[in-house]
Amino acid sequence: MTHVFHRNIHQSYPVAVAGEGPYIIAADGRRYLDASGGAAVSCLGHSATEVVEAIQKQVASLAYAHTSFFTTEPMEQLADFLIERAPAGLEYVYFVSGGSEAVEAALKLARQYFTETGQPQRRHLIARRQSYHGNTLGALATGGNAWRRAQFEPLLTQVSHLTPCYAYREQAEHESDDAFTTRLAQELEDEILRLGADEVMAFVAEPVVGATLGAVPPVPGYFRKIREVCDRYGVLLILDEVMCGMGRTGTLFAIEEDGVSPDITTIAKGLGAGYQPIGATLVSGRIYAAIAAGSGFFQHGHTYIGHATACAAALAVQQTIESRQLLPRVQMLGTALQQRLHSRFSEHPNIGDLRGRGLFQGIELVRDRATKEPFDPALKLHARIKQAAMNEGLMCYPMGGTLDGLRGDHILLAPPFILEESHLDELVEKLERAISQSLRAVKGAGA
Ligand SMILES: Cc1ncc(COP(=O)(O)O)c(C=O)c1O
Repeated sequence: MTHVFHRNIHQSYPVAVAGEGPYIIAADGRRYLDASGGAAVSCLGHSATEVVEAIQKQVASLAYAHTSFFTTEPMEQLADFLIERAPAGLEYVYFVSGGSEAVEAALKLARQYFTETGQPQRRHLIARRQSYHGNTLGALATGGNAWRRAQFEPLLTQVSHLTPCYAYREQAEHESDDAFTTRLAQELEDEILRLGADEVMAFVAEPVVGATLGAVPPVPGYFRKIREVCDRYGVLLILDEVMCGMGRTGTLFAIEEDGVSPDITTIAKGLGAGYQPIGATLVSGRIYAAIAAGSGFFQHGHTYIGHATACAAALAVQQTIESRQLLPRVQMLGTALQQRLHSRFSEHPNIGDLRGRGLFQGIELVRDRATKEPFDPALKLHARIKQAAMNEGLMCYPMGGTLDGLRGDHILLAPPFILEESHLDELVEKLERAISQSLRAVKGAGA
């Protein structure tokens, strides 16, 4: 009997009681290798002493001070740390408590920027199908996952959703990368013109698409072309790095590899690595200056923004990543993981695509490799893999609806940056067993 309103009411969950490096330990003593960082959160694993000590020290001196009365040292220091390393042009940080809040702040900031600069007609948002930007209403409206949106549709604001840069399914067989990215940029331009060249507020995208597509990096050149189109029409580029940012792909900001600077970017998950709930919205100097010269006040706010203990934890997380030189390690481990996944699965009859960047890897399952036909969604292959992996003592992050919110299955891997190579072997072995068992079960069920 529980009084907790769990995510899935009909499921019983093991009780997590301890963390040890990349493992979570349950009350019955079972150990789970965390190959997904929960949902791409726990980049330092579950027992980083530097972070625990920083939290203890901060709580002991000052746990929290409301940001309408005070600023705090950890908040100032964390902002300095992030801005010193952020893509060019990003100069200010608005701290919140998670990813959805960071996206909401980004959307409202974009709108306020235009009202303060005499362009109140700019109100349209453009995003992409099969994206995920969070579950609060503004973020949900921005996201393009049909299943997550469906029942809430009457509450959602109008957002245009374009084709994602998802090469496996959207790039035509003989289409070059250049032709593909030009086509997608043209689609953005066409939509801006359809909505009204000076009525669009922002284009929102995840640099590497996480939960809803399974670690899909952009085709080279895509974001440069998108940036050009945005600039041509004065549309803000908002990049959502809530999942792919903070080192997950091997660089602190995922977009670094694409050589583009956004106007606004959102981060969360790996920022606090799960030690505290924290997110942030990073804003360009231009947007900040416009608001400073106008009302001088961002009309937003929550009780816990800039929480001192959360900021102290995140600062310790980011300093630890730097002092332990974990970003080069993510690149090295990412390559090692990719190699293992390719050697196990690249010839597998039900694995259609392996993709990713750094320690952010995705596996797409198909019924037929030649036609890319997915499994019948009623078989819930992704849910079976998640359960089978848990039975093996492995956390991974499978999801259904890869193609259109309903059809398709993928597995997302986002393990901690502190893994040893031996953990990669354990990960791939357990994953292979979980996939095989689940495929046997769905084939037995008539797939
Ligand atoms: C890209 C992206 N944006 C926003 C969110 C929402 O973050 P949160 O669950 O912390 O509200 C997520 C969560 O998975 C995400 O992956």
